Amino acid sequence: MKILVTGGAGYIGSHTCVEAIKADHEVVVLDNFSNSSGIALDRIAEITGVRPVVVEADLLDTPVVEKLFKEHSFDAVIHFAGFKAVGESVSEPWKYFHNNLVSTLVLLDVMRANNVFNLVFSSSATVYGDPEVVPITESAPLSALNPYGRTKLWIEDMLRDIAAADSRWHFILLRYFNPAGAHESGLIGEDPNGIPNNLMPYITQVAIGKLKELTVFGDDYPTRDGTCIRDYIHVSDLAEGHISALDVIESVKGCIPINLGTGEGYTVLELVHAFERAIGKPLPHKIGPRRPGDSAATFADPSLALELLGWKAKRGIDEICNDAWNWQSKNPNGYQTR
Ligand code: NAD
Ligand code: UFG
Repeated sequence: MKILVTGGAGYIGSHTCVEAIKADHEVVVLDNFSNSSGIALDRIAEITGVRPVVVEADLLDTPVVEKLFKEHSFDAVIHFAGFKAVGESVSEPWKYFHNNLVSTLVLLDVMRANNVFNLVFSSSATVYGDPEVVPITESAPLSALNPYGRTKLWIEDMLRDIAAADSRWHFILLRYFNPAGAHESGLIGEDPNGIPNNLMPYITQVAIGKLKELTVFGDDYPTRDGTCIRDYIHVSDLAEGHISALDVIESVKGCIPINLGTGEGYTVLELVHAFERAIGKPLPHKIGPRRPGDSAATFADPSLALELLGWKAKRGIDEICNDAWNWQSKNPNGYQTR
């Protein structure tokens, strides 16, 4: 297939480009590098031997997107582009509504005008809000806890409405649980701006000495050690899930949400201990207060992904930690140095 990957220079997008090229798809990346580096594309070329076509552009720029679709005959689009920082979305919601919603509308309009009706969308387990039952199946109630989550929910709703109105569309909504780790080569990985919000990049930056210690947000949750449980999924497993989605997208009727998770939950302290095994030394950490808005336990029922995509996660928590550390230690300043 010839595929357009919006946000293809980002963390999950770059790993997906690698797997797409490995699967012999032809890849065109559109990215404005608002949260990524062009060096990721060099690294994709280094890993795969193939350099994807890269268009540096904003998905909000309709004429540029129209021109791109005239120049290439795409079979499908994987849509990663968007902002994803939960805290920032609370303080600057308009920025999230504008970038995430409007860019998706631009993309859908241009796709329709060019008869491209296959879309794989990056959704998130955040659409389950604070889940009442775990493991979470796709039929669980949906809600948003913050403006970022609301953009995912609204886009999902939009795609459901569009699919109901026009049977030419095929949408797969991939609801990611907690992506972590890096490509086994250590050439691509997560490169957050500033102090990381998420657990794994915070841990790796403590391990490399850029941050002093990890604060564990709360140890009084009703879990086996009192810390929150999440479903950490290796980013290369996640990337492979997108390729499996491309394989079946033409046969999908309408709009289907699919969880991408492992089905295994780990507590914050279990992840810290797994990481300590990977680096062979203790990781400085202390217990702090709860972070507002965190749910006690979130993990996937991934059986629909196996049924519909023939996909399941192959890599476990130790591989996630080893690969995250390999990336961080080879690239202490992310894409700024090697
Ligand atoms: P990322 O920030 O690394 O990648 C997003 C990419 O999109 C970046 O390269 C950025 O430069 C680009 N981009 C943003 N706005 C753009 C625009 N208007 N035009 C062109 N390019 C634009 O994020 P990621 O972790 O790779 O996440 C990818 C997608 O998956 C996002 O939609 C995110 O919401 C979703 N997601 C991520 C996680 C996670 O924990 N990483 C979890 C669930 C869902
Ligand atoms: N945590 C800490 N200390 C930190 C950072 C995180 O203890 O410094 C804890 C959190 O309290 C939580 C766990 O580590 O219990 C994971 O936190 P993350 O911020 O890494 O991930 P979340 O599960 O909160 O959210 C992530 C993404 C969301 C996405 C969601 C999908 O940030 O965008 O996964 O499940 F929607």
